[in-house]
Amino acid sequence: MKKILAPALLALSLFAVPAVQLPGGLVPLPVSVEKPTDALLVLKKNDETPATAHYSVKNAPELLAYFYQATKERYGEEFSCPIILAPLENPKIVNGNAEGYVLEIDREKIKISAQSYAGHFYGIQTLLQILPPQVDGNATEIKLPAQKIVDYPRFSWRGFMLDSVRHYQSPEWIKKFIDLLASQKINTLHWHLTDDQGWRIEIKKYPELTRRAAWRKHIGFGLNPNQSSHYDNAGNYGGFYSQDEIREIVRYAASRNITVVPEIELPGHAVAALSVYPEFGCTGGPYEIRLIGGVSEDVYCAGNEKVYKFWEDIFSEVAELFPGTFIHVGGDECPKIRWKSCPKCQAKIREENLKNEHELQSYVIRRVQKILARHDKRLIGWDEILEGGLAPGAAVMSWRGADGGIAAARMRHDVVMSPNSHCYYDYSQSHSGEPRSFGGFIPLERAYEFNPTQGVPAEFHEHILGGQANLWTEYIPNENHAEYMIAPRISALAEAVWTPQKQRDWEDFQERMVEQYKRFEHAGIRYRRPEGIQIFLENNAIRFLPDLKNAGVAYTFDGSEPTLQSPVAGNESVPVPPGNNLLCLRARTIFPDGSLGRINERLLNLPKATITSTLPTNGRNVPARVFDGARETVFWTTRGPERGDCLTISFDEIQSATTVRCITGKNETGGGGDRLHHGVLEISPDGELWHAVARFKDGFAEATLPAGTQIKAMRMRTTLPQDEWLLVREFELR
Ligand code: ACM
Ligand code: ZN
Repeated sequence: MKKILAPALLALSLFAVPAVQLPGGLVPLPVSVEKPTDALLVLKKNDETPATAHYSVKNAPELLAYFYQATKERYGEEFSCPIILAPLENPKIVNGNAEGYVLEIDREKIKISAQSYAGHFYGIQTLLQILPPQVDGNATEIKLPAQKIVDYPRFSWRGFMLDSVRHYQSPEWIKKFIDLLASQKINTLHWHLTDDQGWRIEIKKYPELTRRAAWRKHIGFGLNPNQSSHYDNAGNYGGFYSQDEIREIVRYAASRNITVVPEIELPGHAVAALSVYPEFGCTGGPYEIRLIGGVSEDVYCAGNEKVYKFWEDIFSEVAELFPGTFIHVGGDECPKIRWKSCPKCQAKIREENLKNEHELQSYVIRRVQKILARHDKRLIGWDEILEGGLAPGAAVMSWRGADGGIAAARMRHDVVMSPNSHCYYDYSQSHSGEPRSFGGFIPLERAYEFNPTQGVPAEFHEHILGGQANLWTEYIPNENHAEYMIAPRISALAEAVWTPQKQRDWEDFQERMVEQYKRFEHAGIRYRRPEGIQIFLENNAIRFLPDLKNAGVAYTFDGSEPTLQSPVAGNESVPVPPGNNLLCLRARTIFPDGSLGRINERLLNLPKATITSTLPTNGRNVPARVFDGARETVFWTTRGPERGDCLTISFDEIQSATTVRCITGKNETGGGGDRLHHGVLEISPDGELWHAVARFKDGFAEATLPAGTQIKAMRMRTTLPQDEWLLVREFELR
């Protein structure tokens, strides 16, 4: 990938079958990879000789069955693979780490040495990355160069949180997700199972939780109901996991060295439970399952002993289902307004000599911590559990940045870092071209910059258990969309929590990811392809910066579709064609397999114009940004438009055009939040007389004009007021 391949070469490379699989693209990067030698191990297809798998460790049959199943699924054929699973004689070489392994390939065999099931499992995962993601149907052998890898993780908590409440995912998909986690050596699935919008875990003692609180009237969150298929026969939206399904998921995860940590939220984010057991709220309800996100003022009553009994019952079932050490109890975003005016809560504050409602929150967490301790479980909660004093032995998950985690580590509490600056994968991956999201911006590079010990004094590093990414699903209504948000950022997370910090390198990571993208493809993961291209105009030349490192970019200047026959740019700049004609630059990434990414567009040589608006500007998002050739830059207001508000482009010279359009809203193609709801697109031959040529629909207006139409000015005019602010991306004319 260092060199830019010409299209013809790219096409050829589609057919070239590498004779030897080079060890490229290992993600997360192992601690040490010895350079491969010339010696080769040859794996033969449908070899008559019996499998020569020797082993001297417990669980070897299970591990080998997993390995052979994975390769059979991948290649559709069996290749002989002499593999030995052995105990590790000298654990020091993996730093004594139980998850560490040594993988050796020589002419005769593959040997994986480890101290535990986990270590052997990870050796197998690395081997699965060394083996080619696919082989030509005619190939009769796979050749692996001799090599030695010594590897062990940096952190013991390598986590990923999945919110199955805001939207439910099928148990089958959760297994697919677990496979993806395992391939990246993630070992903790934090499973968010209860919240304001639903209750997803079967509790035998409280059947209403899943009979009714697992379902809501509508998909909610302003989403299109067709974006998910999880409806019951009566059209209710949601679902739950039965205890049998949970046991199966926990077992499946354990066989992939993944611990499932359930999250049962309290004392806030509890409206679904309250909707069926209203007596557990301060006001007694009625409560309705929420159809929107955010934070509800209605929370569990902290002064009612029956609520503690309810939690005791729930955690006794939960503790039995999940064999791991930790149970997550939420603890975040619990408004205190109901407690302030609740006689029971106030009585509890007096009885327990608490100063205020924050100490009442701390009291709740301490009580729950004792409940968990009776089941030999440890409590972990979001960083709000620091409020009013931390319960003894509790671990903190730091999400509002790293400060809460640093404070907890200083108090010698264990910490998992999951700051929303780097680890919130519900945030957008690019400024443009992305599906509607919660907001925020965490591109792959930002995700890669995550370092769990950043800002933590060295003497407290031992309390940083590790790091975790979170997938909150408010705006992620289905499994395909979830995969898109998870991959490839999961690889950035994997490396942040596995690879020694000093060995991490963004440039090198991007090069290895080229192989990882192929693995996502072959595993059927709908990952976000790195197909964005930043386009820079400097000194009348264009420089392309594709998201896929060093990829070629096919481009055209005449608005035609770039293909493999179009000119290809690499790192060098491309001069803008001479003349003053309006140009439509279109560019797309050429992927290593010869496929093309989506088209990125930019208009050049725009006619000179003055841009004015009757609406106030929000920060740097000035009106001129709606006529700069780039949809990424926008005009944004600080109020909703009134009837008659205008945004006007007045050309210095009369223009002739056959198409005019205006794009508003947070989605690049129009629509989404802050779009124009009611308005018209107008043109004027003289700047005084106006003709409406199109009405806005979904934030977008476009008109085809008779050839030779003369335009001195064009504008967007609001025809009805709206509360939502307005975001205008671009006016375009051709
Ligand atoms: C959170 O994002 N409320 C933990
Ligand atoms: Zn109360």
